[in-house]
This record gives sequence, C-alpha cells and structure tokens, in this order.
Amino acid sequence: MNLNTSTPTHIPVLLQETIMALVVQSGGHYIDCTLGGGGHAAAILEHSSPGGQLLGIDADPEAIKIARARLEAYSGSTLLVNENFVNLQAICYKYDCLPVHGILFDLGLSSLQLNGNGRGFSFQHDAPLDMRLNPNQELTAADIVNTYSETELARLIKTYGEEGYSRQIARRITQERPIKTTLHLARTIERVIGSRRGRIHPATRTFQALRIAVNQELEHLESALRQAVNLLGFEGRLVVISYHSLEDRIVKQFMQQEAKGCICPPGTPTCVCQHTPSLRLINKKVITPSPAEVQLNPRSHSAKLRAAERLITQDGQYKTIEKLCFSVEVKANGWRRPTLLKRLQQAFSTA
Ligand SMILES: C[S@@+](CC[C@H](N)C(=O)[O-])C[C@H]1O[C@@H](n2cnc3c(N)ncnc32)[C@H](O)[C@@H]1O
Repeated sequence: MNLNTSTPTHIPVLLQETIMALVVQSGGHYIDCTLGGGGHAAAILEHSSPGGQLLGIDADPEAIKIARARLEAYSGSTLLVNENFVNLQAICYKYDCLPVHGILFDLGLSSLQLNGNGRGFSFQHDAPLDMRLNPNQELTAADIVNTYSETELARLIKTYGEEGYSRQIARRITQERPIKTTLHLARTIERVIGSRRGRIHPATRTFQALRIAVNQELEHLESALRQAVNLLGFEGRLVVISYHSLEDRIVKQFMQQEAKGCICPPGTPTCVCQHTPSLRLINKKVITPSPAEVQLNPRSHSAKLRAAERLITQDGQYKTIEKLCFSVEVKANGWRRPTLLKRLQQAFSTA
C-alpha cells in the first residue's frame, strides 16, 4: 500500500501499523482524536475512500489550521473540530458521529509544536513558559513554576516526570523565581543535575511533568478512552500510540481491564461486579517502530502502539434489544423499523 503521506514538518509515527490496526476500509467512519499535522488522518481518508468519513479533533487551534490545509482534497469527507478529546462523547453526539469503525489517539505533541512555536513546549528554543495546547486555557507552566509550593512542585515533578531529583529541582526553582522562559528553567535544572545525563537532557523530565500538569493529560486520557469504547460499533477498533510510560501504563491497564470478565478483587467468593468484557486485545505485545523508522524519524523512538476491538457480548445485546423494544420511548414515539434499527445500532455501540 502507498502510505507516503508524511509532511516535511511532522512525520506520522507507525503509520502503516496504525492503518492496519484500525482495519481502515472503504466507506468507514473514523475519529482521529489527535489530528496534529493531519498525517494519520490523510492516510485514513486515503484508505477509506470512496465513502470514508473522518472526524478530526485537536485542542490546538494551530493544528486544526494546518490539518485543514493538508486535508483540503478530502474536505467533503472531513469534519475538523478544535476541541479537547476529553469531550469526545459530547462532540460525537453534537455532530451525530456514531457509531464509528475506528478511533485513533496519537498522544503527545507534534513536531510542529516541539519545533518552537513560541509556546514553550521545548527547551531547545527560548520562549515564554506557557505549554498550553489551547491558548484559551488559563493555567500556564509559568503559573505552576512561580506559584506552587516547593512540596507541590516536587510532587508534581516526581509523579508526572518520574524524576529522581525532584526535591532538589523544586528547591532550586523556588530559589530562582521568577522563572519566565524555557531556557531559564532548563539552565536552573542543569545547575542541579549537571548539563549531561545519559542520552536525555536533564530538563526533559521536568518539562514533561509541567506539560502533563498544565494540560491535565493523564486525567483526560483516562476519561477519553472510556468514552471512546462507547462510541465504537461492533468490532470497531481503538488504536492508541503513546510516547512515555505514564501514558502507556494507562492505555495498557485500561485495555486489559476492559478485556476481562469479572474484575472483582482476588479472593471475592462470588462475583459482585458483573463486569463483561467490552474489548478484545488485538496485539498482546505492544507494537514499536522498526530500527529503520527510528533512524528516519528519531522522535518515534519511544512510540508504543496498542490496539483493541470492540466486543459486544450476546448477553449484552439481548438485554439491550429487550430494553429498547419494550421501552416507553419506542412505544410513545411509535418508532418504525428504520428508527428502531438506528437506535439499536447506537445502543450496541454503548452496550
Ligand atoms: C503526536 S501529535 C499527532 C500527530 C498526527 N497523528 C499526525 O500524523 O500529524 C498529537 C496531537 O494531539 C493533540 N492533543 C494532545 N492532547 C490532546 C487533547 N487532550 N485533546 C485534543 N488534542 C490533543 C496535540 O495538540 C497534537 O497536535
């Protein structure tokens, strides 16, 4: 297949693997929750044509602008929304986009954001300490760095950055305040840890922690995954690419939990949770980029792709059909077959 849809500015990661994991098919309906430069979206549209449709979401208005230009050829089949994916379900209801065949999350930041767009995501370029994906949001990285207590800062850097020197860095930051720019913060951290630390810059983990905190990345991811499952039709695919262990742990645990039957604590004499599996894992082992891809695109080195398929158990289906057919709503509206079928289809996506 021809997947040569990369741009010179952001190279989509694990592109071929993503298209295969989503099982993109002609006429399919897909959601790209992290549109970025539109690289994955372009490939999804190409492979779902004719008749494919794509809802693209990004919290960053700049990303929407860039992706809109890139996907112009498919403007009749795309709907691009500047929103946070934490509102995924509401967005889909608003635009009547459900159930869908596949949902993609390609987490983190695009090269367009990392390459110094003036929002302070990277210490490679000097910029104000901002780090908001959406500039309309209030809290910035500068607010955290300059107003949080030393204890709060240390906890944040440890939890979201998995940084061993969190307390030392937090103390130095509070001594150095006010810190308003990326380079000032990076140099402050270098003074604690030194300017070299293996392969990564000493400020990497603190920058990651701040970005996660500013954008509530982990909370939003957990919530969006839950919503995504409910939007997938039968056998629909959920594909997530993550770039650090905190994200990947959330994705892995979520998929494993949803693929299980009973989730009662071990030792519970009889099942009280009545949990039924809603997902089937596609790849038990995580998919990572080949050495050739990493060489071509070093930013892909930490990528991990996990995929799962929407499962709707027979038991769940029968209960839903029964509930719907005898529901007051059906009787009151005197729904005929097509409406009832549409409702059933929607219900199966949420059963
Ligand atoms: C790695 S990039 C995606 C690149 C894209 N797949 C491509 O091929 O061009 C991640 C994108 O997700 C967006 N993003 C991150 N968290 C988000 C959230 N909670 N809601 C919406 N968009 C988000 C970022 O703004 C960024 O543009």
